[in-house]
Amino acid sequence: MDNNKKIKWGIVGLGRIADEFAKDLQLIESAELSAVASRNLEKAQEFANKFQCPKAYGSYDELFQDDSVDILYIATPHDSHAELTIKALQNNKHVLCEKPIALNYQDTLQMVKTAKEYNKFLMEAFWTRFNPSVKEVLQHVQNGFIGEVKYVNADFAFVVENLEGNRTTDMKLGGGSLMDIGVYPLFLAYLILGIPKEIAAKSNFHATGADLQTSIILQYESAQAILHSSFLSSSNHKATISGTQGRININPQWYMAESYTLIQGEDKEKIKRPKLGKGYAHEIEECHACLWSDKIESELWSHQNSLDLIKIVEDVREQIGLVYS
Ligand SMILES: NC(=O)c1ccc[n+]([C@@H]2O[C@H](COP(=O)([O-])OP(=O)(O)OC[C@H]3O[C@@H](n4cnc5c(N)ncnc54)[C@H](OP(=O)(O)O)[C@@H]3O)[C@@H](O)[C@H]2O)c1
Repeated sequence: MDNNKKIKWGIVGLGRIADEFAKDLQLIESAELSAVASRNLEKAQEFANKFQCPKAYGSYDELFQDDSVDILYIATPHDSHAELTIKALQNNKHVLCEKPIALNYQDTLQMVKTAKEYNKFLMEAFWTRFNPSVKEVLQHVQNGFIGEVKYVNADFAFVVENLEGNRTTDMKLGGGSLMDIGVYPLFLAYLILGIPKEIAAKSNFHATGADLQTSIILQYESAQAILHSSFLSSSNHKATISGTQGRININPQWYMAESYTLIQGEDKEKIKRPKLGKGYAHEIEECHACLWSDKIESELWSHQNSLDLIKIVEDVREQIGLVYS
């Protein structure tokens, strides 16, 4: 792709995250919001006006067929990620798809196959992977700063005031804390320790069958991770990676961190790493870098990374008995 031209983005599904993403898109010089699509034309026009976007569509299909758009950001509930991503790829669009990339491993495999078949870029929007603090923490771990990693502890929990009638508990939309926010602690454990040998997990559920709180132990050959997600109570939103020679705290809110703390014995050093915008700007930059070098996947958050993570999520689901129809 010509790196002298702006990359033209389209957004599919104009909810809460689409709004946040569009704000960060404005911070990237090489990005242009060129079209947006909602199931409701009026809503699309309102969104387009807010972000000075020239085209608004009242159906997703119209956006898929717009040949002037380079890359689509899929910002709909989890259950539709696979279908919409595959359609977008088949219409020759590059795709950045919200997390979790799909409801299960098989769908993810299909998405990856389609990206390869159509030779189009596909990445799961795991923005935390591109967070400056998280990237640096990974380097410290890989350089042996804390010795051999023995323990990862992370959570993502907040009180959802109204659990009824929205995507948090709607099983048709892939509801539940695990799929919505539990994927973040799982992501960190996977980033640091890889695929676990064994998984133990327990949940409490809403009447719909969606998990409201889930606690997970990941067992590795010589390390463990303890992870938690919840819509019922809040947490410190801090992550800790502990090793034989020290530990690193990724400071709250760790999944969108602006600093981390290196700890060795009595020595503590807090390192500040401000993010750009809300933090979505970093994943946008990664998409652009990949498109400019004609890559169909990111090396930092690859197709295999998404496949591994969704397989771990699937194994947790099996443990807790979370079944989507
Ligand atoms: N990366 C992050 O930080 C982050 C944060 C929040 C959410 N997310 C992810 O982003 C996705 C969307 O989350 P959100 O919080 O933006 O949700 P949301 O506010 O409910 O918006 C989702 C949008 O999807 C569209 N949609 C399509 N089919 C739908 C259906 N059957 N029911 C409801 N909406 C439907 C709607 O847009 P139209 O009406 O315009 O068609 C809706 O506004 C989820 O997969 C979530 O995990 C990521």
